[in-house]
Amino acid sequence: MSQRPCPRVPAPSASPGLPRRGFFTALSGAALGLLAWPRSVSAQGKTWVALPLGKAPKLQTAGGSMVTRIRGKELLLVRDGQGSAHTFEAKCPHEGCDINYSPEHQKIECPCHDAVFDLTGKVLQGPPPRPLATYQTIVDGDRILIRIPR
Ligand code: FES
Repeated sequence: MSQRPCPRVPAPSASPGLPRRGFFTALSGAALGLLAWPRSVSAQGKTWVALPLGKAPKLQTAGGSMVTRIRGKELLLVRDGQGSAHTFEAKCPHEGCDINYSPEHQKIECPCHDAVFDLTGKVLQGPPPRPLATYQTIVDGDRILIRIPR
């Protein structure tokens, strides 16, 4: 597997349109955003990780999906055709390939050995020995709430 080269971060003076004070204000805002993520919230008597839809534009519409890392887990988040949300571990339980959501088929697919899973994680086709690991997920207004045990 090849690694992408590490992009160089330009020095503050490399941004002629951004004054030094603005640069540091923007930098501190970004750092605060990172510190605030993931945020735990209480809802329905449980503790959830809250993902604001403003930070996940691919999940704002039905059929969207994205992969992200939360609490050390690489997760595939999906909005199905009805707009409900689902969360899966992003690696196939067969040999660990990356899985993808197919909005056309409304199924999770693994390209390595043509496995197909439904949106409950159940194996519909292919060699995986067990279902996908799933996490309880709900849409709550302008955020998605995910139950991820610590
Ligand atoms: Fe996914 Fe083999 S790794 S089906």
